[in-house]
Amino acid sequence: MKSTLEITGKSIYRGQLSLVSIAAAITILTGCENFNAAPVEFSQQDIVTVGDVETIELHGRVLSSLPVTLPEVDPDQAELGRLLFWEPILSGDKNIACGTCHLPEHGYTDGQSRSIGVGGVGRGVNRTVGHTGRVPRNAQSVLNTAWNGITGLGLFDPATAPMFWDSRESSLEKQAIQPIESLQEMRGESIATEGIHIEIERRLNNNSVYREAFATAFGIGTIAMKDVAQALSVFQRTLIANNSRFDQWMRGDATAMTARELSGMQEFVIAGCADCHSGPLFSDFTLHVLGLPEGTGLEAPDQGDGNFAFRTPGLRQLSLTAPYFHAGQFASLDDVIEFYDEPRKSQNPNVPSAMLDEELLEVPEMDGGRGNLIVDFLKTLDDDSFDRTIPSEVPSGLTPGGD
Ligand code: HEC
Ligand code: HEC
Repeated sequence: MKSTLEITGKSIYRGQLSLVSIAAAITILTGCENFNAAPVEFSQQDIVTVGDVETIELHGRVLSSLPVTLPEVDPDQAELGRLLFWEPILSGDKNIACGTCHLPEHGYTDGQSRSIGVGGVGRGVNRTVGHTGRVPRNAQSVLNTAWNGITGLGLFDPATAPMFWDSRESSLEKQAIQPIESLQEMRGESIATEGIHIEIERRLNNNSVYREAFATAFGIGTIAMKDVAQALSVFQRTLIANNSRFDQWMRGDATAMTARELSGMQEFVIAGCADCHSGPLFSDFTLHVLGLPEGTGLEAPDQGDGNFAFRTPGLRQLSLTAPYFHAGQFASLDDVIEFYDEPRKSQNPNVPSAMLDEELLEVPEMDGGRGNLIVDFLKTLDDDSFDRTIPSEVPSGLTPGGD
């Protein structure tokens, strides 16, 4: 119990230490088994403002809030992009939209281990597998992708923003074309790769609502695929969730995080999670080999010489985006913690243990309550206040989101 009082009494609650908070901390921490978390060594006094983000350096790692300034977007382009995001007309058989796999209720993912595109029926966790099976990967969230690639100091470049689990594409604009061309995701067998652009452009140019909307938003008479990609990208840059309790604490609200959560934040850094999960999105945006267990139908990523190196994912909105990892290998955050509990050897037969990332091998034991503290901290990165609007209708007259 000694460490409990040390945590609570440390400078974070300077001047605000109350009997209530001590009592609350004791009640919570008694469930904390035999793990003695180190007293929290930092306070809000250590926060440094850099441009548009608040940063804090702990054990040489930088954690940051997200920018407060929203990306600049043209409102007409964004609204057009929203319609296109939910528009099944962009898929070969007119029954799948971007929103089929990127649903607001799942933090703009789909709740599936690996996504189900062509041939699937239904939505979210209820979507059933069709004749083309599942795509090789877990759907990523599109929330905050406006900031993909952001550094601890808040610097980012939308033109080179890494996209996909293996960072094989850069920028939202280039990414947006890929699912439309992909047989399993949206194209289907009825139209060949070479034909899909012409077909989608033909459909949109034949629709007077879209012709007018593109004329207003982009000042163009004929709609081309690059304009579709741009509208989708502009819309996705409006899907922001930058006001988690962690962000609020970093911006000065001492009540936004509990003593226990701050202790979890420190454990997150001490355990080495922040060696890879750092900066405002909790990602270094580089590729690492973790040697995860492999599901069926998985492919080696396009980058990384077939060694199953994947990009560190961001850690925001995790409460909504299960299952986790590139193929949805783990259903819960507790399962994730179990994976990180002293990883020693590769669980992927194609990845020799010698290839595992060094930082991964340094992650210490998670038992005795350390893992629980870290999970509590991860939950402070949730922000429920994002835009969940699904248009009630789309210009094709098809069902928004398909099916
Ligand atoms: C069949 C399900 C499905 C559909 C439909 C789909 N996506 Fe995705 N999306 C995924 C999956 C799976 C990934 C991860 C793919 C990978 O890494 O190989 C992904 C990744 C992304 C990413 C990358 C996010 C990041 O942080 O790297 C963006 C952005 C995105 N999708 C936007 C879109 C847009 C825009 C559309 C419509 C044009 C779309 N998606 C249609 C399943 C889907
Ligand atoms: C060596 C770098 C590295 C370290 C250290 C590391 N991670 Fe990760 N983390 C990754 C990468 C890379 C992935 C994605 C791997 C994949 O899917 O193949 C990942 C995935 C995750 C995910 C799944 C996120 C999602 O959206 O699917 C969570 C949660 C997570 N890590 C938490 C942690 C925690 C907690 C720690 C510390 C105990 C930690 N990580 C340590 C690199 C790292």
